[in-house]
Amino acid sequence: MTGKSSNQMWGGRFASGPDAIMEEINASIAFDQKLYTQDIQGSLAHASMLADTGIISSEDRDKITDGLNTILSEIEAGTFSFSRQLEDIHMNIESRLTNLIGPAAGRLHTARSRNDQVALDFRLWVRGELERTQDALSKLIDAFLDRADEHADTVMPGFTHLQTAQPVTFGHHCMAYVEMFGRDRSRVRDALARLDECPLGAAALAGTGFPIDRHQTAKALGFSTPTRNSIDTVSDRDFALEFLGLASICGTHLSRLAEEIVIWSTPQFGFARLSDAFSTGSSIMPQKKNPDAAELVRAKTGRINGALIALLTVMKGLPLAYSKDMQEDKEQVFDAAETLELAIAAMTGMVRDMHILVEGMKAAAGSGYSTATDLADWLVREAGLPFRDAHHATGAAVAMAEERGCELAALPLADLQTINSAINEKVYGVLTVEASVASRTSFGGTSPQNVRAQVAWWRAQS
Ligand code: ARG
Repeated sequence: MTGKSSNQMWGGRFASGPDAIMEEINASIAFDQKLYTQDIQGSLAHASMLADTGIISSEDRDKITDGLNTILSEIEAGTFSFSRQLEDIHMNIESRLTNLIGPAAGRLHTARSRNDQVALDFRLWVRGELERTQDALSKLIDAFLDRADEHADTVMPGFTHLQTAQPVTFGHHCMAYVEMFGRDRSRVRDALARLDECPLGAAALAGTGFPIDRHQTAKALGFSTPTRNSIDTVSDRDFALEFLGLASICGTHLSRLAEEIVIWSTPQFGFARLSDAFSTGSSIMPQKKNPDAAELVRAKTGRINGALIALLTVMKGLPLAYSKDMQEDKEQVFDAAETLELAIAAMTGMVRDMHILVEGMKAAAGSGYSTATDLADWLVREAGLPFRDAHHATGAAVAMAEERGCELAALPLADLQTINSAINEKVYGVLTVEASVASRTSFGGTSPQNVRAQVAWWRAQS
């Protein structure tokens, strides 16, 4: 027993206030104050609708509207004092409204509950974040398109198992990321489309007996339609889970890119040099330039994944409809959103600024017998061998080159002819890395002409 008076918003049946620990575990104002704009926006739309439907008077609506606008400027000016005793953003704002306009404030919560109110506020916040993510991804995609265009002809080794596989163009490698981040952006758009239903008016869980107009508030708040089931409306956090799901997938893509940048910028690989703006030095080893931003992006993906697992775990056993467990949704989403925005922005900067070491890529592209498949394909095409036999003959050529410590193109014709007599001097035309990439013109393949066509296709997309 604390001796404190009961809650001014809901304490009618309570003789005393909450224990200090109860107050601490219950309050969400420390983090949900982030929702103040959305809360006020929702209340303004609700108050207008209540007046238009004759549920409250237009005088009361005007008082409520003025009061809410005052509160908005107080919060923006930093003069609003948030109180933990008032639990959350909804009650902090309503309590201040009462101070400002008196009894008319008490009419605002007619035909509404904090359950539909929080579902609305959070949905509006996630909608804004999805729009920001969409824009950020577009900038990242644009950065990759520019680099792909610039390096459509730059040859690098393509890897499988991180072993040299076949030569590819760096432009094609960049376009792989355009595809990945393009899918991420389309997941954002899908989530926006599914989120486009307004929760306001579901009230506590069962709807209301007041003659509210949910279509009016939905429209005023920029939604296509109201939600169709009041129980689902106050129980649903799928929109937040979807955001965290798509953020986790996008984080995984960012992390793979970060890992490649870390590898490429080592002196051993020598494929890229990071700009000063996106790297750091060592306090003891003067020669070092460390890819810290890439490493941090790689690590921050863990936070986003953690947020997804945390919210899935919060939601998994909840009976319908609202339970207070759901208050734990916000911090995870806020943290993941901030992390994702920062990670995308850092990667966009790195991709734009990174200096590509064309000679280093090219030298690596030609080592490790990367054109062995081209030799096998040549034997199929020019000597009519079945691919399996051509593969075997090429294996023998690789063994011969390995024994002599030279590249395939350095093997004398006479020696190649001991492996297969049909080989002639034209074979040398396919053993260079440039010829190899130029030949890969199948749709989706790595040839410079394909890369340019793909860049043009993506630029024509919105
Ligand atoms: N602060 C609460 C939340 O974030 C608002 C909804 C409270 N509803 C209730 N019936 N206690 O979920």
